[in-house]
Amino acid sequence: MANSLSIPLILIISQLYLQIWFLKIDAKVTSIIVFGDSTVDSGNNNYLPTILKSNFMPYGRDFDGGKPTGRFSNGRIPTDFISEAFGLKETVPAYSDPAYNISDFATGVCFASAGTGYDNLTSRVLNVMPLWKELEKYKEYRKRLKGYLGTNKAEEILTHALYIISMGTNDFLENYYLLPHRQLQYTVEEYQNFLTGIARTFIKQIYKLGARKISLTGLPPMGCLPLERTTNFLFGRDCIQKYNNVAKDFNNKLQALVSTLSKELYKLQLVFSNPYDILYEIIQKPESFGFENEAFACCGTGEFEMSYLCIELNPFTCRDANKYVFWDSFHPTEKTNAIMANYAVKTTLSVFQ
Ligand SMILES: *[C@@H]1O[C@H](CO)[C@@H](O)[C@H](O)[C@H]1NC(C)=O
Ligand SMILES: *[C@@H]1O[C@H](CO)[C@@H](O)[C@H](O)[C@H]1NC(C)=O
Repeated sequence: MANSLSIPLILIISQLYLQIWFLKIDAKVTSIIVFGDSTVDSGNNNYLPTILKSNFMPYGRDFDGGKPTGRFSNGRIPTDFISEAFGLKETVPAYSDPAYNISDFATGVCFASAGTGYDNLTSRVLNVMPLWKELEKYKEYRKRLKGYLGTNKAEEILTHALYIISMGTNDFLENYYLLPHRQLQYTVEEYQNFLTGIARTFIKQIYKLGARKISLTGLPPMGCLPLERTTNFLFGRDCIQKYNNVAKDFNNKLQALVSTLSKELYKLQLVFSNPYDILYEIIQKPESFGFENEAFACCGTGEFEMSYLCIELNPFTCRDANKYVFWDSFHPTEKTNAIMANYAVKTTLSVFQ
């Protein structure tokens, strides 16, 4: 009698144990899926007819022993460090890169395109991929992954993947403040609401397709980018406070969006990842992070060089990028990227671990 009871009991207990064990596996981040601009593009622009590229030296000179990949930095970008922190690959491959196949993309894939933004018009300035096209590529990827792994396994990966969205700086600096169209149409506050509305639609779209872990990234103190400081030469190359204020206002709107959607969308884990404060602190106190220069970039004179203007033979380019906060006039060095990514992992992305 005792024996016949204890066998089913053991079965029940072991089943429970297995379920708990599987739940734990389930909770893990299976993959990193990236949408956005040059802050997170790992090389998609290499395959676009745009002048906004970085697949030549000195870009990538500290990447894997010296390899220009199309990342806008001397080495890895934040999403690479985030992927590594979650125990996944050390780099997130670009979806357009023919060197990678669907088996590589199963644990991480990047659809980002440097120069793009929430606004369709922004992507047209430099002829890069608009956000809706990043979404189309993602849909194509889903089909390919299902074909490769089967529907169940693919959906398990896609549901437990961490989706990272990072863009917005170009909407203001390459579009709103540079071209007349949007300024004639919107005040800067209205434009922020317009962009926030697009972010809302986008999050709902990927949620509907099955995304359940999403990190929406805010804007950096964009008035402190070396290129913007250079345009502020009359004021001693100070940070442009107006642009920093716009970044802060827009971040507040994104934060509010995250709160609303978190309540609205069932079982969605959505966080707002804010790079503003940590980057601003680095810029205010570069020495305490081991930097020697925060106002000029490493590449060339450090005042304006970016993309094709950042040339390998420029004798002014710095020797040790680790001493610089910025690599080119618009993008941080690998060291800054690592600090910002680790900060994001510790403060906000840890909820996914
Ligand atoms: C992907 O590429 C690797 C080598 O780079 C190869 O071993 C693998 O079979 C390829 N997988 C598919 C699905 O093509
Ligand atoms: C951007 O363009 C796409 C494709 O034409 C369109 O479907 C989408 O509605 C546009 N977005 C906005 C906010 O106008």
